[in-house]
Amino acid sequence: MKVEVRYYSRGGNTEKLARAIADAAGVPALTVSEPLTEDTDILFLGSAVYAAGVDDEVKKFIQGIDVKVGRVVNFSTAAFIKSTYKTVERLLREKDIPMDPEEFACRGAFAFLHKGRPDEADQKAAAAFAKRILEKTP
Ligand SMILES: Cc1cc2nc3c(=O)[nH]c(=O)nc-3n(C[C@H](O)[C@H](O)[C@H](O)COP(=O)(O)O)c2cc1C
Repeated sequence: MKVEVRYYSRGGNTEKLARAIADAAGVPALTVSEPLTEDTDILFLGSAVYAAGVDDEVKKFIQGIDVKVGRVVNFSTAAFIKSTYKTVERLLREKDIPMDPEEFACRGAFAFLHKGRPDEADQKAAAAFAKRILEKTP
């Protein structure tokens, strides 16, 4: 099974989750500046909420996918809203790429809010989530 991890993180919060997920999956955590080069069964895709959307780099990455992707598993951090799921789902739908209904989302530090998040517990939970996703995949 081919597993890949890509993420975009301006401040390092989403990167913490990407590293925890990639470690659990035994693959490198790469940024969205690195396109997929082979067909991929599971793509863990990480993003953060900025001004109620995702960064253009995430959009460009998704729009540029030119290999077959079995499904995308979303993970994200945000200060207020739940996650980037709906935005990413919309972008993936344009490419006919399926998205797992499960996602991992947690708070990310922003200004004086959520200091230290994602914290150790968030990172452990992200790793456990990734393992569960991989186990449910035949
Ligand atoms: C410019 C900017 C805009 C943001 N806008 C939102 C927002 O609209 N809604 C929200 O829930 N969080 C918002 N946040 C908080 C980020 O989603 C949160 O800090 C996230 O963890 C940042 O992830 P990163 O460190 O991986 O870039 C914003 C943060 C920044 C820096």
